[in-house]
Amino acid sequence: MEEETEVMYTHPIHDFKYKKDELYCEGVSIASIVKKVGTPVYIYSYQTLVDHYRKIKEAFKAIDPIICFAMKANSNLAVLKALVKEGCGFDIVSGGELKKARLVKADMKKIAFASVGKTEEEIRDAIKAGILIFNVESRPELENINRIAGKMKRLVQVALRINPDIDAPTHEKINTGSLKKKFGIDLKTARDIFLGQKAFKYLKINGVHIHIGSQITSVIPFLVAIEKTLAFVDELELDGVRIEYFDIGGGLGIFYKDEKPQTAEDYAQKILPLFKGRKFKVIMEPGRFMVGNAGIFITRKLYLKDNGVKKFMIVDAGMNDLVRPSMYGAYHEIIPVRKSSAKRITCDVVGPICESGDVFAHDRVLPAVKDGELLALLSAGAYGYVMASNYNVRPRVAEVLVKGKEWAVVQDRETFKDLIKGARIPEFLK
Ligand code: LLP
Repeated sequence: MEEETEVMYTHPIHDFKYKKDELYCEGVSIASIVKKVGTPVYIYSYQTLVDHYRKIKEAFKAIDPIICFAMKANSNLAVLKALVKEGCGFDIVSGGELKKARLVKADMKKIAFASVGKTEEEIRDAIKAGILIFNVESRPELENINRIAGKMKRLVQVALRINPDIDAPTHEKINTGSLKKKFGIDLKTARDIFLGQKAFKYLKINGVHIHIGSQITSVIPFLVAIEKTLAFVDELELDGVRIEYFDIGGGLGIFYKDEKPQTAEDYAQKILPLFKGRKFKVIMEPGRFMVGNAGIFITRKLYLKDNGVKKFMIVDAGMNDLVRPSMYGAYHEIIPVRKSSAKRITCDVVGPICESGDVFAHDRVLPAVKDGELLALLSAGAYGYVMASNYNVRPRVAEVLVKGKEWAVVQDRETFKDLIKGARIPEFLK
């Protein structure tokens, strides 16, 4: 029997494990992938991904919700295709995401379109595609969708995104449920719209939507937001408004460091009773929960620098490749791809970008691996590659999907040619 050890002390289910001293994703060694693809690279586990989808589906089977994966968390086409094959739908936020959903042949009747600023073209394309529902975030947007639907002679289903004015305990930049934020519609305006919906001839305003923030590890804010919205819906129903869709959004937190996030079952156990005896079709929009722990990010150590005050482990990835640590102060566990007995040092893990914020970890205790050795940043499957940029003229990295003993590059590393595509020096400068 090969020795297998969990990567982390308490890391929840995933398929990244050491076999002997080498880190594997399912049946493939990370080092063997890197040999062919180079670094930096995102590596995803198919099994971890579909397991998370299946867990949610199973936990909520009593109400059979429409599960719309929030594509913004990871829109790699292979990841999306794997989910479509499982029967998953998508929460989308742009025309580009709609096009990706169509490319992987998603069921348009499982597409919910949110975003505070949908353009005319995006609205038209989504109506044409026959998506399930628009999650609408303001009255002017509603008027615009009504006008466009009228021109197209179509009846369009709409849910109002309610802003329940709840301050969920999460990072300021990913907290969306309070009226200090741009998201959703306040209860009073929403009520007026529902009651006056005859004015919108081409809309069937028959849904409510909430999304109070991301990386929320306690169930309480979800319960408060849903209960508040249910009370709002009850009042509307007394006034003769019929609600068919109740979209509870995403936001489920995952494990990065020492969080104790809810499992799908914990979450379902608390949420399901709220919908008992109600006839709504529930929609869910999990993003991070499905992909977060299904991906890791591999970088190579370049140098160690000691300036007498601090040690810096300099790696070949930068904040342009994975921005979460610099943007949100997010924690990603860092482990060596080959287990190391080198002495432990306390260092900052930094990239090559010309910004002091280009730091993956502050004062982290790590083995002082040799130059050229590989490091893995864990829980990098959500909001990793999708938030990458070309800052400092750096190409976006490659993405790899592993399934059992098979693996494939599912996104090529960009080339310099990709970086200058469309760039022109005008005649008057020549
Ligand atoms: N539904 C809506 C309307 C959303 O805006 C979002 C995420 C989700 C669902 C999915 O949320 P999740 O289940 O993934 O928490 N870049 C940040 C996270 C931004 C979340 C944006 N909206 C991060 O790296 O932490």
